[in-house]
Amino acid sequence: MNRRIVRTLDVSLRQDREGPTVRGWGRGAWRHLSEERWGLIMLRFSVCGVVLAGGLFAGLSLGGEKVTLGDPSLTAGIPGKGKLTSDQVKSWLADPKNHLDLSVELPMGLAAGSSLIQGIKENPLTRAKIELGRQLYFDPKLSADASVSCAECHHPDEGYSRHTTFGVGIKGQEGNRNSPVSYNRLLTSVQFWDGRANSLEEQAKGPIANPIEMGNTHEKVVADLKKNDLYRAQFEKVFKDGVTIDNVARAIASFERVIVTGASPFDYFDRVKSIEKGVGADLETLKEDDPELFARYEEAKKASAQHAISDSAKRGYDIYFTDKGRCSTCHVGANLSDEKYHNLGVGMDKPKPDLGRYDQTKVDADKGAFKTPTIRNVALSAPYMHDGSQATLEEVVEWYDKGGEKNPYLSDKIVPLKLTKEEKADLVEFMKACTGDFPKVEIGRFPE
Ligand code: HEC
Ligand code: HEC
Repeated sequence: MNRRIVRTLDVSLRQDREGPTVRGWGRGAWRHLSEERWGLIMLRFSVCGVVLAGGLFAGLSLGGEKVTLGDPSLTAGIPGKGKLTSDQVKSWLADPKNHLDLSVELPMGLAAGSSLIQGIKENPLTRAKIELGRQLYFDPKLSADASVSCAECHHPDEGYSRHTTFGVGIKGQEGNRNSPVSYNRLLTSVQFWDGRANSLEEQAKGPIANPIEMGNTHEKVVADLKKNDLYRAQFEKVFKDGVTIDNVARAIASFERVIVTGASPFDYFDRVKSIEKGVGADLETLKEDDPELFARYEEAKKASAQHAISDSAKRGYDIYFTDKGRCSTCHVGANLSDEKYHNLGVGMDKPKPDLGRYDQTKVDADKGAFKTPTIRNVALSAPYMHDGSQATLEEVVEWYDKGGEKNPYLSDKIVPLKLTKEEKADLVEFMKACTGDFPKVEIGRFPE
């Protein structure tokens, strides 16, 4: 196999993982090029001995530190133990390293979606901004009676979701939708089950003022944060205009962008399968034809053996990605979600069903359609579906097997599957094999 074939193979692997959105690939290529060009320009400037005004390149996330998201140092909190002190905050803010724009990479698996990353250009990541967002995310003081934080419904211990049917907000009030996961949300701009927020920033402002979630007002949150010396100091250093509700949202969104899942046994196995699929019949002679790719193949096989996936999950992989299960028609791409809206019939038998996406678009076909959730780490975030009506992955698979619930708007991609008992179990095993590590996150240490 020659270099040309290898190159084609690389491209086809990327497109495979990103699903049908080739658009993303094009944009990625452009960004890569432009980074190289900027690199050259920067080099020329430094050769001439010109000191660049920092502001000139602000927002380009260049020249800063390179990090792989999920790196625990991003979410470890301000160094120290116990109560967060003024001195600790001061020395944290005084370190220039904490204010450099970060240029980011994604961990293996999710990395196939790198070209789709949203929001960082508009709201560059810095360590200090991520840390401020972390504090705000876990701080119940953002709610009217200081009882409910974002983590109340998206807690790291419960897969960044909650094991309740609906989100439970202040004074024990229940919403009408299940808390979706708040990780891997950086690969798309649109948020919520019905896609009504256009960015993580826009999304973050919602729950604070939602009467049944955090029950607060934006004005009061801003006033309270301004009164808090440790918060005010951080806001003033991180943002030119200090404490504003938009800056609260920018900080929280930045924290959310670094909560990404690491490689799972599925990813290691998938790497092996993708090479095998790409090389096809040439696999037997690969060693002689392309020693470099052969070495990569051997490496991938070794890594997969170290992150073993069961035989049942391997069979489940085949069901998931073929016409047998059809799961990858929608749960596809780096985050195993097309981020589109489909009607599976969930809750459609109710007298007044939640119409989901329809409420945003008023297009009939969107009635009862909800955004495809990720399959990554899904085993950790029961119950399932927008209304939390399905308790287990087994129950979800039964739903698909019977072809969902008949209704006039049912997706034409949902058809009875007629799987055997073993095949259903294999699909569940496969989903469990999509569980990777979460970054280690400090859940306390915010200003009192
Ligand atoms: C009372 C529970 C509750 C609280 C508190 C809460 N959320 Fe949510 N969150 C939900 C529910 C329920 C949804 C889905 C609502 C919908 O789609 O209509 C949601 C949706 C989201 C989404 C969209 C995920 C996706 O896949 O589209 C993100 C991100 C998110 N919340 C982050 C946050 C942040 C940040 C905070 C704090 C500022 C927060 N949430 C506070 C329950 C809560
Ligand atoms: C037509 C697109 C489509 C297909 C095909 C599809 N799904 Fe889904 N999936 C969705 C949507 C949309 C939801 C959310 C539906 C809702 O809440 O009303 C969902 C929800 C789920 C959930 C619940 C996740 C959560 O966080 O609540 C799991 C698990 C799941 N699907 C697994 C599968 C499996 C396994 C298959 C293959 C047998 C499959 N899906 C096929 C679109 C699809």
